[in-house]
Amino acid sequence: MGKGGLTRRVTAIIILVAVISAAFSGLTMLYISKKQFSSYLDRSSQVLAQKYAPNIENYYQEYGTLEGLQSFIMDTGVAGNNFRHGRRFQAVQMGRRIIIADKESIIVADSADLLTGQKMELLRKNLLAYPLFSGGNQIGTLYVSSPLQAGIVSLENDFLANINKNISISIIIVAFLAFLLGLFLSRSITRPMADLSSAIHEVARGNLGTRLEPRGEREFVSLATDFNTMARQLMEHEESRVRLISNIAHELRTPLSIIRGQLEAIQSGKLEINEEISSTLVDETIRLTRLVSDLETIGLAESGVLKLNKTVIKINDLVERLLPLRLTMEEDNIKFQVQIEDGLQEVKADFNRLTQVLINLLTNAMHHTPSGGEVILTIKRQENRIAFSIADNGSGISDKDLPNIFERFYRIDESRNRKSGGTGLGLAIARSYVEAHKGQIWVESSVGQGTTFYFTLPCAAELLC
Ligand SMILES: Nc1ncnc2c1ncn2[C@@H]1O[C@H](COP(=O)(O)OP(=O)(O)OP(=O)(O)O)[C@@H](O)[C@H]1O
Ligand SMILES: [Mg+2]
Repeated sequence: MGKGGLTRRVTAIIILVAVISAAFSGLTMLYISKKQFSSYLDRSSQVLAQKYAPNIENYYQEYGTLEGLQSFIMDTGVAGNNFRHGRRFQAVQMGRRIIIADKESIIVADSADLLTGQKMELLRKNLLAYPLFSGGNQIGTLYVSSPLQAGIVSLENDFLANINKNISISIIIVAFLAFLLGLFLSRSITRPMADLSSAIHEVARGNLGTRLEPRGEREFVSLATDFNTMARQLMEHEESRVRLISNIAHELRTPLSIIRGQLEAIQSGKLEINEEISSTLVDETIRLTRLVSDLETIGLAESGVLKLNKTVIKINDLVERLLPLRLTMEEDNIKFQVQIEDGLQEVKADFNRLTQVLINLLTNAMHHTPSGGEVILTIKRQENRIAFSIADNGSGISDKDLPNIFERFYRIDESRNRKSGGTGLGLAIARSYVEAHKGQIWVESSVGQGTTFYFTLPCAAELLC
């Protein structure tokens, strides 16, 4: 379903629910008030009948018949305190009709003066029947009509019609307000969804700079924040991919142009091949091969498919592997110290990869420490990890460069002098190996005082570390 479809559907549902509930509550109100009012009228009809009945019973007692009641009530009325001098038929003015029938159901009096002499049967509907007695025998029935009958002009009918009208108007107003509220509500629910949908569409089209404004409900705010994080990461990945390609191209160009230049000179006869030339060519191809294999390793490690051959390594064997480096440092008059925590003998890791991490870090330390300086390798336990540190008192790294040094091809020497520096992959490789072991690597440094690289490896359960 498209976003427009969803928005329309949610809007329609909310509006429908709001309008239906407004109409339903209005109609219920209408029904209840009508019901209450008519039961009130029924009770008042009863009261009216009770009030009139004794007068009619008195008439019967006096005349021994109900005949002549019609003309009597038309002259004197049945209501009022005094039967003989009562007022006109008040009931008529109250919108009620009073009919009196004898025990044969023949109408003997009708407040509307229309039905006298007719049979009662047909009219019983909607009438309150009140029996009239004399000397214990029923002499007839008094019927009181409801003032709510259709076609009758009465205050009660007017009242009810007014209620009907007012409630109907309020139903329309409330339904309209519910419609507006529903529209507003559905907008506030579907707008962030529509925004998210179009932002995703933009990212899918390659506009990785698209960001959402975190607003609305808490869930939408966190959704927008997550979306922004995702878009930012995609952008960073894309930038790093572009940077990587240009760095690789840059790194390949130099050795390739040297090889090509030399080969072209030989081909044109300008240069004669000799031992020095051939060893330059071999050096450059070695450099190219190393670059390609380093990149391949980092690629494997970063994509999580690097196979680690983890074994229990004796720390002494590890240190022994670093002997050539120790010798080089001695030649450069750099003091190399190894400090291993008492009792710590083994570590579980991929021997070759761990050695490579140490070599990369120690080589860097050596290159940046002047003659007379010192490099210290420490290995110790730290909670449930083994912590390594490689500290030197060399040149140090500035705060500006510190966050970037683990990046592929990042070298502080901006001129990228191939003779003095490496390819800038040493730390990237160290990081990817450490992370492949589920460890962490970080650095602390201050310019002029020295640098310390730290990395930790998880402690294997079978080792007492
Ligand atoms: N101990 C250190 N002291 C000072 N600077 C250092 C230290 N270790 C690394 N660096 C700086 O960090 C940069 C990145 O190091 P990295 O090992 O990744 O690359 P590299 O040594 O230049 O090349 P490669 O290791 O690939 O031969 C180096 O260029 C160097 O300037
Ligand atoms: Mg290095």
